[in-house]
Amino acid sequence: MSLAALAREHGTPLFVYSKQWMLDALGAYQRGFDGRDALICYAMKANSSLGVLRVFAEAGCGFDIVSGGELSRALAVGADPARIIFSGVGKTRAEMKQALDAGIGCFNVESEAELDVLNEVASTSNQRARISIRINPNVDPKTHPYISTGLKGNKFGIAHDRALHAYRHAAKLPGLDVVGIDCHIGSQITEMSPYLDACERILDLVEAIEAAGVPIRHLDFGGGLGIDYNGEVPPAADALWKQLLARLDARGFGNRKLIIEPGRSLVGNAGVCVTEVLYVKPGEDKNFCIIDAAMNDLPRPAMYQAFQNIVPLQMRSGGSDERTIYDVVGPICESGDWIGRDRSLNVEAGDLLAVLSSGAYCMSMSSNYNTRGRAAEVMVSGARATLIRRRETLEDQLRSELPREG
Ligand code: LLP
Repeated sequence: MSLAALAREHGTPLFVYSKQWMLDALGAYQRGFDGRDALICYAMKANSSLGVLRVFAEAGCGFDIVSGGELSRALAVGADPARIIFSGVGKTRAEMKQALDAGIGCFNVESEAELDVLNEVASTSNQRARISIRINPNVDPKTHPYISTGLKGNKFGIAHDRALHAYRHAAKLPGLDVVGIDCHIGSQITEMSPYLDACERILDLVEAIEAAGVPIRHLDFGGGLGIDYNGEVPPAADALWKQLLARLDARGFGNRKLIIEPGRSLVGNAGVCVTEVLYVKPGEDKNFCIIDAAMNDLPRPAMYQAFQNIVPLQMRSGGSDERTIYDVVGPICESGDWIGRDRSLNVEAGDLLAVLSSGAYCMSMSSNYNTRGRAAEVMVSGARATLIRRRETLEDQLRSELPREG
């Protein structure tokens, strides 16, 4: 499939995803869980485009959601509500009611106050909310501080030390049905050891909670497995689970139902963003390669100083390979609008580049900053390419605005 041909047909910037890559990534988890009672809930915050969700729904996945909007997206592609889990520190009453009415599988509750509110919302509508409590195990995932979530200083989960108290409290609330325990320690994790440490700490807790008379039916180990952006070698999903399952077996928990919430590792390297070089601008200190994708499309470099590989889609005529060091930047009026720094490229205006590893946390984090419309998205499956999101028009952007007073 020619990315250049897709760019000619649909324009740029253009996200192009490989369905087979997503299914292969999912396959590594499925192999890891072979013969176990396990549910893979795709963390749709990584990429919540309906065409992507459909791939995972059809493959039998559940979904990890963090808002009522994400719930509606999952239901729109025919997700089984019983396979939906709802994470997040700030669920509103309306979102709780929406999820209860939909019959979701489990709420991952993140504070003691949330337990009480969920109990109230469920009781008021004569329902019972299945819950697990998200534990903050205070384990260092060794990743960027903005995407560490299981350390004491993070806003997520209930502290390990308070967990037993919270479970005792939850078990007494008539609107709640305690079904599991859960943790998620961070994202773009490239080592196994933080998972193994978190696993031991969670199992210690399960033993204590069950000794207090509260049965725990499922164990949810969150998501977070990293991908290769720039030569990182994260563990393969099946290799990670081999180790984790060995721990679970050794401690007698191998038969429990298992849930995981992977996002990035299922879609990150399934996608590229194709972009056109608008201008090449030599400078005194720096040379700039100005492209038509920007931080509104690809926010990770600006937000996390993240690295994404950038690959030209054409050979220079005559085969010359005269490279120049460029900062690859977007058109947005901010110095933070860079996509790659100090990249060695042989490019001229009109060339196409592919920004790699753009399947996760790009479109789902995109914005309209500078009144830029969101890019289009294409899903490739075998020899077929399907437009799954048309380019956002100015009319789309202005639709919800009310410019006149009174
Ligand atoms: N479960 C929960 C409760 C989460 O908070 C997250 C991600 C996941 C699952 C999925 O984690 P993953 O497998 O994708 O690592 N925007 C950032 C990433 C933020 C991740 C937040 N939570 C980035 O672009 O790096």
